[in-house]
Order: sequence, then structure tokens, then C-alpha cells
Amino acid sequence: MSGSVLVTGGAGFIGSALAHRLVTAGYDVAVMDVLHPQVHTGHQAIDLPSSARLFTGDVTHAPDCDAVLRLFRPSQIVHLAAETGTAQSLSHATRHGSVNVVGTTQLLDALSRATHVPDQLVLASSRAVYGEGAWQSGAQIFYPRPRSHAQLQAGAWDPVGPTGDAAVPLPSCAGRTEPRPTNIYAATKLAQEHLLAAWAAAHDTSLSVLRLQNVYGPGQSLTNSYTGIVTLFARLAREQRPLEVYEDGQIVRDFVYIDDVVEALFATIDRPAVEPRLLDIGSGVPTTIHELAHNIATLCEAPEPTVVAKFRDGDVRAAKCDIEAAKAELEWRPTWALEKGLLALLDWIGEQHELPSGATDHGPR
Ligand SMILES: NC(=O)c1ccc[n+]([C@@H]2O[C@H](COP(=O)([O-])OP(=O)(O)OC[C@H]3O[C@@H](n4cnc5c(N)ncnc54)[C@H](O)[C@@H]3O)[C@@H](O)[C@H]2O)c1
Repeated sequence: MSGSVLVTGGAGFIGSALAHRLVTAGYDVAVMDVLHPQVHTGHQAIDLPSSARLFTGDVTHAPDCDAVLRLFRPSQIVHLAAETGTAQSLSHATRHGSVNVVGTTQLLDALSRATHVPDQLVLASSRAVYGEGAWQSGAQIFYPRPRSHAQLQAGAWDPVGPTGDAAVPLPSCAGRTEPRPTNIYAATKLAQEHLLAAWAAAHDTSLSVLRLQNVYGPGQSLTNSYTGIVTLFARLAREQRPLEVYEDGQIVRDFVYIDDVVEALFATIDRPAVEPRLLDIGSGVPTTIHELAHNIATLCEAPEPTVVAKFRDGDVRAAKCDIEAAKAELEWRPTWALEKGLLALLDWIGEQHELPSGATDHGPR
């Protein structure tokens, strides 16, 4: 055996793919997951390796955390359990705060009660912590304020520089870009980072935080309309439904394929951190939402997407990242180009049983 890993939220999209990778490499894997009904609707079977132990439990519930640690003392914990709906978090702030923040503190308190210090804690954080990130206007680098509702309603999509001049977004990099969350989900992900950093330092254990860009691919919930713009577009385009692209279509995201993310997490686990790690994980390739929609519509021979001037409060204009630090530290690199990943996703969706439609949240996560 290579070691034992507890994956919280391990029945979800990223967790189940990671569980398979770990088991294949000889790790003893346990999963703690509440099987959230918004993610697990019953239409999609939970796909875990047969040797992985599934503990159905809630990270916000202390007795559940205690029960898991009584039965399984992991050498590493990968903390993925979370409420993940960015837009939803604005109106369900307590739910996001409870699961993402209190769920993390409950897990840590349970470790303290069990007097168990894992060799490494790994957190899947999010690019959302950067908010609008750093932008450049002329020679000046600045951090735009979150775009206001009035600004978005007026169709003033791009942040402008301090002197009112046009500006361009810079790739985020954990080593140099300040985190400035613009929505509740993002604020809770940043809180998770701080909580784990404090606990890991006090207990002399390793911590790796991976800030993931937009992950997509087979296994993502097909019925959770609050997450996964790629999956949502793919489903709609397969049904020949027109895709609506928000703002002016020029919102930028980095779409990273699930296998590339799993390999980054696996490398993190297989070579635990010596110093605390804070790394950006993405494809390293920025794509506009219009490009994404166009590519998916073309692959599905669906109608050309329409750009509608709708918007979501709390969405950021551009998210892209610099993956050089992750490549060097983890000896990892993404290998899935967007078109190849989209084809794999479309094939997988085709293999699933008929699903009810009714997705409503078209904005990018
Ligand atoms: N998918 C992305 O694009 C992306 C991007 C950045 C960060 N992340 C982070 O990666 C992690 C995993 O995301 P995912 O895409 O696999 O999401 P997911 O929704 O597919 O999986 C999350 C899992 O957590 C479980 N869960 C929710 N509340 C829980 C609770 N109270 N107790 C125990 N389990 C609970 C859910 O049942 C689900 O199985 C999350 O922490 C998310 O913030 C994901």
C-alpha cells in the first residue's frame, strides 16, 4: 500500500475520478460524502472504485466526522466537500458558509479530538478567490473593484483602469496575485485556505492548496444546473437548443479537463509538500465563453450561439492563470486540449441515460 487517503466530497465529480486514480496506484481510499441531492439526483450512478470505502456523512456534523476518523485514520486528507454554486451562494450564503467554512473547522476539530495529525492536508480551492484579479492599463497594474449591478446593467463589462483607460486582465498567479473574492462562494474558499493553513502550521503537518480553474469532463453532474457551464452547454447543444452567451461573449475562463486536474491532485498526494504549497491549476489557455459555445455548437451541429446582454451579479470578467509554478513543483503538465476534452465529454453524455432537462443557470462558474 502507498498510504491511506480520506477524500471528503469524494463521491462528487473530482473526488470520484481522484478515488479511481488513487486506488489504481495502490492507495487505501475512503470517501466521506453527504450525497448532496443537488449533485446526486439518482440519475447518475455514484462511480467509486469497489475497494474504496464510502462513509455517508456530513462534514458539518461533528459526530459524522468523529465516526469516520474512528474507522479510518488516513495518512492524508483531500478536502473537496463543498457547496459549489457561485451564483447560488449570493442567496444561500449561510449554506455556503456552513458547509465550506464550518465543515472545514468541524473536520479539523474532529482530527484534534481523535488526536490524529495526517501527514498532509490537500485542499481544492478555487480561482474564484482572485475575484477580478489583477489588470493592466498602460504600465499600471491594478485590482478593479467588483463590477457593480449598475455597471453591469449599463453593459460596461470590462473594468477600466484608474485613469479611465482600457485595461487587460493578467493571468492569476498564487505567488503574486492578491486574492480578492467577489462572491460568497469565493470568500468561503479563501476562508478554507486560511483555516487549513493555521491548523497545519500549528500541527507541523504539510498543506497543499490547489486553486483550480473551471474543471470540466465526464462525471460532472448533468442535473446540477448551478455548476459547470461546459456540461450545461454540451447538454443543450446535443438537444439542438440554442446557447445563450452572457455579457458580450468576451468573458474569459480557463477550462481544464478532469484528467489533468486529477493528475495534479495525484502528484500532490504522491509527493507531499515539504513547504506549504499554493498552486494554480488550469490548462494555462484562456478561452472566451463565446468561443466555448461556438466550439460546442459546431461539434454538435447545433444553432450558432447568441450573445445576450444578460449577466450574473458576482461573476468576474476574466479568469486565467499562470501554471508554471505547478508544472515545476508537481512535475505535471496539462495534456488535454479543449476540443479533445469537449469530444470526450460529448461522448460520455451520449452514453448516459435520458435525462430531464430544465437547466436554468447559464452563467459561467
Ligand atoms: N469543478 C470545478 O470547476 C471546481 C473549480 C474550483 C474548485 N473546485 C472545488 O473542488 C471541490 C470538488 O468540486 P466538484 O466539482 O467535484 O463538486 P461536486 O459538487 O461534484 O462534488 C462535491 C461533493 O461534496 C459533497 N458534499 C457537499 N456538501 C457536503 C457535506 N456537507 N458533507 C460531505 N459532503 C458534502 C457532495 O455530495 C458532492 O459529492 C470543491 O471543493 C470545489 O469548491 C471545483
